[in-house]
Amino acid sequence: MKTIRVRTGRPYSILIGRGLLDQAGEQVRAALPKAGKIALVTDSTAGPLYLERVAASLERAGFTVLRCTVPAGEGSKSAETLAALWEKFMEFGLTRTDAVAALGGGMVGDLAGFAAATILRGVDYVQIPTTLLAQVDSSVGGKVAVDLRAGKNLAGAFWQPSLVLMAPEVLDTLPDRDFSSGMAEVIKYGCIADRTFFDFLAAHGSRKAIMEEIESVLYICCNIKRKVVEEDERDTGLRMILNFGHTIGHAFERLGNYEKWTHGEAVAAGMCSAIEVGLRLGDGRKEDLEELKGLLEAFQLPTRISCRGNEAWEAIVSAVGLDKKGAGEELTMIFLKRLGEAIAVRRKRTEILEILAGLCGRG
Ligand code: GLY
Repeated sequence: MKTIRVRTGRPYSILIGRGLLDQAGEQVRAALPKAGKIALVTDSTAGPLYLERVAASLERAGFTVLRCTVPAGEGSKSAETLAALWEKFMEFGLTRTDAVAALGGGMVGDLAGFAAATILRGVDYVQIPTTLLAQVDSSVGGKVAVDLRAGKNLAGAFWQPSLVLMAPEVLDTLPDRDFSSGMAEVIKYGCIADRTFFDFLAAHGSRKAIMEEIESVLYICCNIKRKVVEEDERDTGLRMILNFGHTIGHAFERLGNYEKWTHGEAVAAGMCSAIEVGLRLGDGRKEDLEELKGLLEAFQLPTRISCRGNEAWEAIVSAVGLDKKGAGEELTMIFLKRLGEAIAVRRKRTEILEILAGLCGRG
């Protein structure tokens, strides 16, 4: 088993190893010796696969477990589902020394984490991520939230988990498309922080080859995120580099109504667009773009998403922030100085938009 200690305001461990689902009870007991009850939140995808195994392990360790299953899908990351969880927790008799556990992908982690951050002014929570995307990104770093009509993740908090348990074998049941989506974030870490890791991924360009090395892959990604989050827990500086590919990626996601493209697919094309914008501003290297495209294609990820048409253009304008009053003249974009090294660059929003207009064939 591999362990990463995250030294944030509330320090915690990330444990990576096969068999951890069945050891959840003893690991949670060791991390939270005073807790008696656990509200175990999952969704209708992860629940049928893993809920009873994890609940049984927690019960063997002496916890009383409340099982809460919400419908799978982003629609459950809502204020309504959050309020329903609060009520269930109170009926269950959850106290401030008890805890919440999130078993599922990013939606479950964000929702259950925010429920934990807000119930009784904050209780401990444990992340048990079951998708690659959640393992390498959302389960680490303490960003928890629900969506509002005005946008995604708009009501939320920074609330670090008390423990993260990653059992790589849960990835065996992931559909290929979801595995690839997670790979976009994995590849992002190579791009922003570790050229050697990028080369390692290029040498392991298939799901099978990655799964043979999955514990190391999870460790390297989470360790990069650890370093960034320790330095900038509340996202006021360095943490922005984790958003490489996300500004334009969000436009692609929105353009596809959050249905046509997975998050990872949008980020994959967003990373390529970000490099292209950087190149036009004099940052980055063309050969890095070609290498990145090759690696993304190996995992069936798009390197370009068409941004023609007025609807697409509106999504791009919104991603650049030019539809928001009071957004300020400048935008911070993340570019690559070279593969393995990200740079944050502040530029006028209008200048970025002009370049994007050229890339979208509008000017
Ligand atoms: N997913 C980006 C962050 O945690 O800051």
